[in-house]
Amino acid sequence: MALEKIIKKLTSDVNELRQSGRAKGKEIVIIDTIPASENNGPRYLVEGMGDQKFIKMNANSYLGFAFNKDMLKEEEKASKKYGIGPGAVRFISGTYKIHTDLEERLAKFHNRESAMIFSSAYVTSMGVITPLTTKETIVISDELNHNCIINAMKLSRPAKKLIYKHNNMADLKAKLENAKGLGKRVLVVTDGIFSMRGDNAPLKEIVEISNSFDEFFEEGVFTVVDDSHGVGAIGETGRGTEEYCNTKVDVLIGTLGKAYGVNGGYVVSSKVVTDYLRETAPMYIYSNPITAGEAAAVLKAIDILDSEKGLKILKHIKAMTIKFEQGLKDLGFETIEGPHPVVPLMVRNTEKTTSLVKYLFNNGVLATGLNYPVVPKGDEEIRFQISGEHTEHDINKVLEVLKNYK
Ligand SMILES: Cc1ncc(COP(=O)(O)O)c(C=O)c1O
Repeated sequence: MALEKIIKKLTSDVNELRQSGRAKGKEIVIIDTIPASENNGPRYLVEGMGDQKFIKMNANSYLGFAFNKDMLKEEEKASKKYGIGPGAVRFISGTYKIHTDLEERLAKFHNRESAMIFSSAYVTSMGVITPLTTKETIVISDELNHNCIINAMKLSRPAKKLIYKHNNMADLKAKLENAKGLGKRVLVVTDGIFSMRGDNAPLKEIVEISNSFDEFFEEGVFTVVDDSHGVGAIGETGRGTEEYCNTKVDVLIGTLGKAYGVNGGYVVSSKVVTDYLRETAPMYIYSNPITAGEAAAVLKAIDILDSEKGLKILKHIKAMTIKFEQGLKDLGFETIEGPHPVVPLMVRNTEKTTSLVKYLFNNGVLATGLNYPVVPKGDEEIRFQISGEHTEHDINKVLEVLKNYK
């Protein structure tokens, strides 16, 4: 049996993850949904839990579009017109008008020359950072950046990787100083919103500091920002952390699979950058794009976001976020307030976090506990995420459950 030895080793590796508390464990399986009614957002039925109805407080679909009727209609129309899957990578025969329409719309939405879509934001970060990194490039990255950036840096093999303390601008400056003389080009890379607590990178300062070092590098210093949790979630018109910070970065990465409630990723920048990436990013060249149906659904999502209705949804998310934060504080829980719909309940203890998540689950609330090593020791928390599908009644219900926790 060729797999015999490796099965033994892999079993022991997984057991080690389980014993040390680092395993993700068995996933919750959603088997059905109950549509939203006047007072309630949608409810979810979970395998093994009978007819107990769950409120989802751990989805990234901030705008609450997962069941949007107009998006579903557009998705079906496009699938009927172009077929369900793309059938090939884009340069072979997988580029459809709906893909190029979406790229034009994303570029316009972010007020950029050009956009390019990928199959996910994870893949976008890999597909953007890797080809832009040469042997003479220094990549400077926030210590709490998402795993896709960490792996993109590994794959890129830059001349030097420099990690600055989370959101610490003095340290970013120090790292840029250190980078002088080590290479021709510098990429300063950060998440826009850090998803564990919903805090934002100070993008205005990051852009200013990066620009002030540009003259010291032959091929310049530029900013690459993954705003997967920001776009559609913050900023007056949902343009994300850039809008919130009133600035513009050089290369902006986003997802179509969180606030928009669909699937896929994208980058916006100058046309020269996307032309270069179309020729050099293996994750774009050799991997299928999103489906026509997905592209159509996102186009509709952006139309909604860019309408009066979209502004109303953004206001509602903000109001529900404030209500939930205040409710937590009134109940004596510690939270970290901010403009983003991620609301952390700081437990600061592994056992208590696990027990509270279990209590919430048994009482019909889906929420995510974050323990070490996902967060530093002492920062253990429960991450709640507010979305456009939550009603005031839903928020009250979750607070009521928390109130009865002993
Ligand atoms: C900063 C960041 N980038 C990328 C991703 C991955 O997004 P996608 O599911 O579109 O690959 C996430 C998801 O958690 C994220 O937080």
